[in-house]
Amino acid sequence: MTKITYPLILVNFKTYLKGTEKKALELAKICEKVMNETDICIAAAIQAADLRLIAESVEIPIFSQHIDPITPGSNTGHILVETIKETGAIGTLINHNERKIKLVSIDKIIQLAKNYGLFTCVCASNPRIAGAIAALEPDCCATEPPELIGSGISVSTAKPEVITETVDIMKKINPNVVPLCGAGITSSVDVEKALELGTRGILLASGVVKSSNPEKVLMEMAIISKKFL
Ligand code: G3P
Repeated sequence: MTKITYPLILVNFKTYLKGTEKKALELAKICEKVMNETDICIAAAIQAADLRLIAESVEIPIFSQHIDPITPGSNTGHILVETIKETGAIGTLINHNERKIKLVSIDKIIQLAKNYGLFTCVCASNPRIAGAIAALEPDCCATEPPELIGSGISVSTAKPEVITETVDIMKKINPNVVPLCGAGITSSVDVEKALELGTRGILLASGVVKSSNPEKVLMEMAIISKKFL
């Protein structure tokens, strides 16, 4: 299954060595195993250089971590939407806190991605920005308080109001855009709370990628997510 279903667990491999090249492939195979055994959609956001290898090797939704607002031509060092599509990726993250872009670029990238049938997950650092992004009509928007990213303190426990406000504002502005949340999520309890508060999935990284047992962590998260199918 390479199509997105909800609840969604989107694992961002970032540039962790445990999420790079051969290690990325091992981790993507774990994501695939958990998805096959639980029927919960586990997607992976992969570094551009590893995208083709991973997309050709596993049957899970693969995302790029970024795309640039460019068309083919003189754009040295940029990432072209056509190339991402060609790798076999089905979607892209954009505007991650570690790869922020201007609103006008977010708008352009969403349009480019739509033209190529790529799914878009845009990150927001707070509910107001999530509302602004919802107006641009991506497929989903993941709100992540920057101070909790990589902290091991989950947004669902430390800042539940960020999730409820995000869900409310996005519903008002554009109910077609799916709310996700992330930052500091490491356990199935964190996932359960996030889903109870109204998001339809989570975006996470270190809790899985840096774990000594990513299969166990992901399996527990996927099993709890089944309550929200
Ligand atoms: O993209 C997910 C991310 O920014 C959250 O990171 O390590 O807190 O799960 P982490």
